[in-house]
Amino acid sequence: MTIFRGAVLDTPDDPFAGGTLRSCSDEGLVVRDGVIVARGPFAALRPAHPDESVVSLDGGLLLPGFVDTHVHFPQVHVIGGIGLPLLDWLERRALPEEERLADTAYAAQVAADFVSGLVTAGTTAAMVFGAHFPAAVDALFESAATAGLRVTAGLVVSDRNLPRELLTSPEKAYEDSAGLARRWHGTGRARYAVTPRFSLSCSDPLLAACAAVLDDVPGAFFTSHVNENLEEIEKVASLFHLSTYVATYDRHGLVGPRSVLAHNVHPGDDELEALAARTASIAHCPTSNAGLGSGLFPLARHVRHGVRVALGSDVGAGSGFSLLKEGLQAYFTQRQLGDAGYALTPAHLLHLATAAGAAALDLPDVGHLSVGQRFDAQWLRPAPGSTYDVALRNATGPEDALGKTFTLGTATDVAAVWIDGDAVVR
Ligand code: GUN
Ligand code: ZN
Repeated sequence: MTIFRGAVLDTPDDPFAGGTLRSCSDEGLVVRDGVIVARGPFAALRPAHPDESVVSLDGGLLLPGFVDTHVHFPQVHVIGGIGLPLLDWLERRALPEEERLADTAYAAQVAADFVSGLVTAGTTAAMVFGAHFPAAVDALFESAATAGLRVTAGLVVSDRNLPRELLTSPEKAYEDSAGLARRWHGTGRARYAVTPRFSLSCSDPLLAACAAVLDDVPGAFFTSHVNENLEEIEKVASLFHLSTYVATYDRHGLVGPRSVLAHNVHPGDDELEALAARTASIAHCPTSNAGLGSGLFPLARHVRHGVRVALGSDVGAGSGFSLLKEGLQAYFTQRQLGDAGYALTPAHLLHLATAAGAAALDLPDVGHLSVGQRFDAQWLRPAPGSTYDVALRNATGPEDALGKTFTLGTATDVAAVWIDGDAVVR
């Protein structure tokens, strides 16, 4: 057993439902076999555990590990390709790079860069958009297993409107996806996600093949994109002749409690109602939405309708792996919306980046640091003398410290990361 001692912040009670930030400036967490078995103020806790070794996390903050609910593995090398809206960005920046993952040796190198980028940014679990090539997706799962990352991922499938090299058929999509699910779903911390790229690049028979995989792999997830960009939405409407974008997935039974749809910047009320009724989750990706000029995410409407929302980095359209930056951009976005914006507090940002992501990915044992939870955590410790350090030392309280952390903290401030109690970054 080990006692982790430090300033601990988490959000076990949802701030969107009246919960508040939980904090203690000198907390002890007793961890046995990766599970938190006791916690409390260190001075009160220590006498009951006099012989346990103590890991002292002096200075900075101990937070739950981040849960990134939408991030693209093959796009690490195209982060920062700014200046284009979605469909042009896909054609000119993302898809040419994704074609390169046909080379499995290259894919393995990208997978290593990708997993390292996530964990060093404090992310301990992620829903990952895979690649269009099965061997590249194997490389991703292998890299995640080596690092210990909790990964839910799958083969990206499409059968129209993309470069020929990225296309498959419904039959091959089923075979390749089912094969990957057999190899990886439930292996260690890995789970499989059925992943049609977006309705614009998928026919109804391909979406039906996706539904068949989902049916045949108990506990598998579904992930895709929805309502990101106005031009995309118009094209999807002309392809499917359905009343809504959500319906293109829903009519195949793809929208449910284990479905994570990215973006939803331009939903109709009927779509929000359907998403809430299905208990599906939306991955809000604010730096991507800003960078591609996709629009301002209507968070208040999602909350009003009871749609589950968490954060995604959406690398490579997003600007990096840190969910601190995504949290800050989510806050900025709501400010830009004026009266229509949701008044986000630092506690909301932490919740979106941790417990809300864990709920979206159906990971009930992570997302906060309560007794009985697994110890997936990160220690943020600013460099002495940095502006973040100065700000943190002058914070007026825990909520202020958290606001300063989302504003000034970066991946370089992540000093240590644990998954199931094991240090994965130190
Ligand atoms: N829609 C379809 N593919 C993508 C992608 O790679 N990134 C984003 N942001 N949206 C998409
Ligand atoms: Zn995406």
